[in-house]
Amino acid sequence: MKDSGNCRDIRIFTCNSNRPLAEKIVKKLDGIIKSYEESFECEKIKDITLGKSDVSRFQDGEISLKIHESIRECDVYLIQSTSNPVNDNLMELLIMIDAVKRASAKRITAVIPYYGYARQDRKVRARDPISAKLVSNLLTSAGADRILTMDLHSAQIQGFFDIPLDNLRGMPLFSHYYKNKFDNFDDIIVVSPDLGSVSRSRALAEKLNVNLAIIDKRRPKDDVTEVVNIIGKVKGKKAIIIDDEIDTGGSIINASNALIEKGVTDVYVCCTHGKFSGNAIEKIEKSGISEIVTLDTINVDTKNSEKLKILSVDEMFALAIYRIHGGMSVSDLFE
Ligand code: R5P
Repeated sequence: MKDSGNCRDIRIFTCNSNRPLAEKIVKKLDGIIKSYEESFECEKIKDITLGKSDVSRFQDGEISLKIHESIRECDVYLIQSTSNPVNDNLMELLIMIDAVKRASAKRITAVIPYYGYARQDRKVRARDPISAKLVSNLLTSAGADRILTMDLHSAQIQGFFDIPLDNLRGMPLFSHYYKNKFDNFDDIIVVSPDLGSVSRSRALAEKLNVNLAIIDKRRPKDDVTEVVNIIGKVKGKKAIIIDDEIDTGGSIINASNALIEKGVTDVYVCCTHGKFSGNAIEKIEKSGISEIVTLDTINVDTKNSEKLKILSVDEMFALAIYRIHGGMSVSDLFE
């Protein structure tokens, strides 16, 4: 590993939103560092373990945070998805950044596998907030030096930050999964569930070498969606819908119903961030969708689902942390 000139110790901490993923990332990173041992020039780094810290609550609900080891001059990575309960998880992350900054860390990277509030990225109606921008301001003001995340709801959120941001993609994990799942791609079509997902869907269609169809979706109310039209020939095909997130499940269930009505034989869904709010899993189980593949950027309880499969982002994040720490390029992880 090429040292970035200033050989600093690396420390990884997590808050409470997704401890299982943080543990898996750390284990992978430890394995990666050990497998590159010979070219690893930084003497300081031996075993990678999750840093010792406690994030709990005072009686009145305020967050209490303690870091039990020195991090002076270290390269620190804080893993926390800002998923439901989004306000608590965001606040834990901000307070953790503050603590780490005041403890004289050399550089702080907020590793946010799921970046919440991202759907509020522009003014749709008069007097709307742009909450995704507010969150970026909060993270930067708290002291984050860089951000590592995955499949931001819209790529332009990167521009809300004046610090470096790496936006990993879940698509390579999905294309790999489907290449192993199907022997024949002649009757497969990738479907974009809305206009905002077209470039992500096109990337998957290109990887699988299949055609793309697009759903024209409208959102008359915050949590309600409807399919207006399907652009492309879908009859007799197996459809793979790819979305950045599933929240109530309304979008993909409506899309699946509309596709089946147009003659699609099977509907497969993949999404990066499985939020599954309310009774989404129950609704999906009853729907015509055959299978949903999601990633573990959000820690969800999937034991009540026959249709859900979870793939891990652990290796991708571990490699990204390894490369950022070593001053190496992360761009080929996007493929
Ligand atoms: C919207 O633009 C997103 O890409 C998702 O399609 C949406 O957030 C899913 O929400 P729900 O599952 O509630 O329909």
